[in-house]
Amino acid sequence: MTTLPKLRQPELKTSLPGPKTAAIMERDAQHLSTSYMRPYPFVPDHGEGVWLTDVDGNTMLDFFAGIAVSTTGHAHPHVVKAVQEQITKFTHVCLTDYPQEITTSLAERMVKHVEKPGEKWRVFFGNSGAEAVEAAVKLARNHTGRSHIISTIGSFHGRTYGAITLTGSKTKYKRGFGPLLPNVSHVPYPNPFRPPLGSTPDTCGQAVIDHIEGLFQTIIPADEVAAIIIEPMQGEGGYIVPPADFLPKLRALCGKYGIMLIFDEVQAGMGRTGTMYSFQQFEQYGNVQPDIVTVAKGIASGMPISAMLAKESVMTWPVGSHGSTYGGNPVAAAAAHATLDLLEGVVPHPGCGPSLMQNAAEVGAFIMAELKGMQVEFPFLGDVRGGGLFIGLEFVTPDGRPDGKLRDAASMAMFRRGLLNLDCGEAVIRISPPLILTQEEAATGLEIMREALRELR
Ligand SMILES: Cc1ncc(COP(=O)(O)O)c(C=O)c1O
Repeated sequence: MTTLPKLRQPELKTSLPGPKTAAIMERDAQHLSTSYMRPYPFVPDHGEGVWLTDVDGNTMLDFFAGIAVSTTGHAHPHVVKAVQEQITKFTHVCLTDYPQEITTSLAERMVKHVEKPGEKWRVFFGNSGAEAVEAAVKLARNHTGRSHIISTIGSFHGRTYGAITLTGSKTKYKRGFGPLLPNVSHVPYPNPFRPPLGSTPDTCGQAVIDHIEGLFQTIIPADEVAAIIIEPMQGEGGYIVPPADFLPKLRALCGKYGIMLIFDEVQAGMGRTGTMYSFQQFEQYGNVQPDIVTVAKGIASGMPISAMLAKESVMTWPVGSHGSTYGGNPVAAAAAHATLDLLEGVVPHPGCGPSLMQNAAEVGAFIMAELKGMQVEFPFLGDVRGGGLFIGLEFVTPDGRPDGKLRDAASMAMFRRGLLNLDCGEAVIRISPPLILTQEEAATGLEIMREALRELR
């Protein structure tokens, strides 16, 4: 008989919140921006792998990775070493004015994951997802000489003025901040669980394409549209996966009218779905090659860096037209190299197969199968969807409507048992753990979820 190793479990030493956590939460409430959200009381002290310990010594399993950022887990030795080595060399010069080898080689490395034969790509580096999105929209307008941008309902693209204009998930991001960017329109996202425009799960992709074509005949001249920006798998809007035919059709539509196709891979990219970029999950269904891609979050295991990648034929903006003081910071670039080492499998992570990308695919498939099984016991789990370690769990009322209250109660019940999680959409819990999560750790997390859901029932 095989003896299984004793699996690590969350270790809760105090009731939640513990006294130190409560004290810091109180100071935080006094002095920090009133805009910050606090879904539950958690104040981290240190982390190791997929575990985070709070200031009271309570150790919890991390199933949200700082919103899909900590790809390699917390304090990964390979990332820590890379950062330490670079910080002793130089911390900043300014990429806008001088090249630095570490960012040049990072760009060379990143484009390899998107280039096709005969098609060269280039990279602009920023600090955050919103900056990458701003850069993408500016480039699309500058390159095409057109102004209109089409985005999707349910999308999230960031909090700067351009990015909130494009964002279509919640009015709270826009209320009181207008006027926003002109010439931006939103179209439905093809959500197979809640098909828009009177369509069905199978026809919702075509329905959205027809809707856009309809707008081109009636409201928006297609030859004034610079870009369509879309998350190939929608993140904040509810971890939604479009039907297989949608992205190839969208690619064809953009080609027909000379519109730039921008894929916002800030949340779903960098290996999370099992391929470097989530759009690559759809390559088996047709041509989905975008013109511009934005990435951030998981790119450097938590160090602030983002990238806007574009085809060389599209990156035509002139010298000096765009830049950033900190963008492409060498310390963050070092962390990005180390993160890519692990994602690509140049440096293997013990217990996670040949690469973290492959681990994400395999452990994600395990979690997905388990969660689908749990839908039998818990009928309020209306939908389980995603790809790799990008998984959404939608809570529904008995008549199938989104149940945000139940989702919030579930999130809290999981937290109280030591499972860090985060909501998204109207009634969804997202599962976006570090990509170093092993199947055993996934099983531990699933067991906690099961116990929490039983409490709700
Ligand atoms: C798809 C997507 N784009 C852009 C952003 C904005 O990124 P940041 O918060 O780094 O500006 C986010 C953040 O959640 C995102 O999910």
